[in-house]
Amino acid sequence: MVDTQTQYQKIKNEVDLAIKDVIDSSAFINGKIVQEFALNLSRYLDAKYLIPCANGTDALQIAMMGLDLKPGDEVITPSFTYIATTEVIALLKLIPVFVDVDPQTFCIDPLAIRKAVTAKTKAIVPVHLYGQSAPMEEIMDIAREFSLYVIEDNAQAIGCDYIFSNRTKKKTGTIGTIGTTSFYPSKNLGAYGDGGALYTNDGELAVKLKMIANHGQSKRYYHDMVGCNSRLDSIQAAILNEKLKHLDKYIEARQQAAAVYDKAFETCTKIKTPFRAPYSSHVFHQYTLILEDINRDDLHKFLTEQKIPSMIYYPVAAHQQKMFSEFNVSALDLPVTDRLIERVISLPMHTELDAEQLNYISSKVLEFVNC
Ligand SMILES: Cc1ncc(COP(=O)(O)O)c(C=O)c1O
Repeated sequence: MVDTQTQYQKIKNEVDLAIKDVIDSSAFINGKIVQEFALNLSRYLDAKYLIPCANGTDALQIAMMGLDLKPGDEVITPSFTYIATTEVIALLKLIPVFVDVDPQTFCIDPLAIRKAVTAKTKAIVPVHLYGQSAPMEEIMDIAREFSLYVIEDNAQAIGCDYIFSNRTKKKTGTIGTIGTTSFYPSKNLGAYGDGGALYTNDGELAVKLKMIANHGQSKRYYHDMVGCNSRLDSIQAAILNEKLKHLDKYIEARQQAAAVYDKAFETCTKIKTPFRAPYSSHVFHQYTLILEDINRDDLHKFLTEQKIPSMIYYPVAAHQQKMFSEFNVSALDLPVTDRLIERVISLPMHTELDAEQLNYISSKVLEFVNC
């Protein structure tokens, strides 16, 4: 699905040197490269404060801890997402309130959010799924109306632009109360191990988030609140700092690959190519098709036989997972989620796909679906 090796070969010299610098400095934890990367990424995103942490799941957890969400508080989340988004809600003894997504963008549906708000609701967690923004203006309107926090799960959409109705733009993750992201190796800005970050424009909150990520410590050995140990290590920060310089180029490469797929599938009515929301750019963390009247398992098997990887993101909706059985949510009526779970399939999408590969992949898909 990704080709991190070919990507690495193109930036090997810079990356190797950056890693060597960290080893030479022996500042493996909290080296100055961690702060340098945080500053560079905050500038790229135009976020005032950026707090690096160990992974995208921790980032979500730290965000919810930083907002003082208490057991029993309700958090509205899409069910059609990676499990991390919803898992941390339950981990903190909050109540996940699963809602449906939009059938075109796959992102949380504002109408469903509005219907789900109760007196106990404290936060909304929109997920910018597959690399495209959730409808943030509508979400922020609801958040303002009911005084709710918004934690943007930006793990899949770093670099994505939200386009406001007045045509101004902001990077996803910088619109709500807090944005969180993941530097998992296959992400658009991927480390060579785990990593994550939180960002916010609220100075007081940033201080708190930083403390929580570091054992609730205000100064060495003084712990003002319960926190956790969540650090981005210096080697990962050094790698990410080099890769950040290429992020826009990487996004462009993904967009070009998506355009080639789009063209190939243009006339095939059995395949729905990714919708582009007018309010968002698309950074194509995934290129995901919706299949009509096609046996997805057979297509997946056929592609595997042709040595083409494909993935189902996600085969089971969060509200159907056993881990949430105590919330009695498995019978929830989320028709769009139910439909997508059965029909989506993602094709290889990364920065190194060449014309020959793209043509081979799309021709094999078309051969199977008989278009
Ligand atoms: C939408 C979403 N949220 C959260 C995460 C969690 O990130 P991590 O794997 O770095 O913990 C991921 C990444 O896998 C993700 O795709």
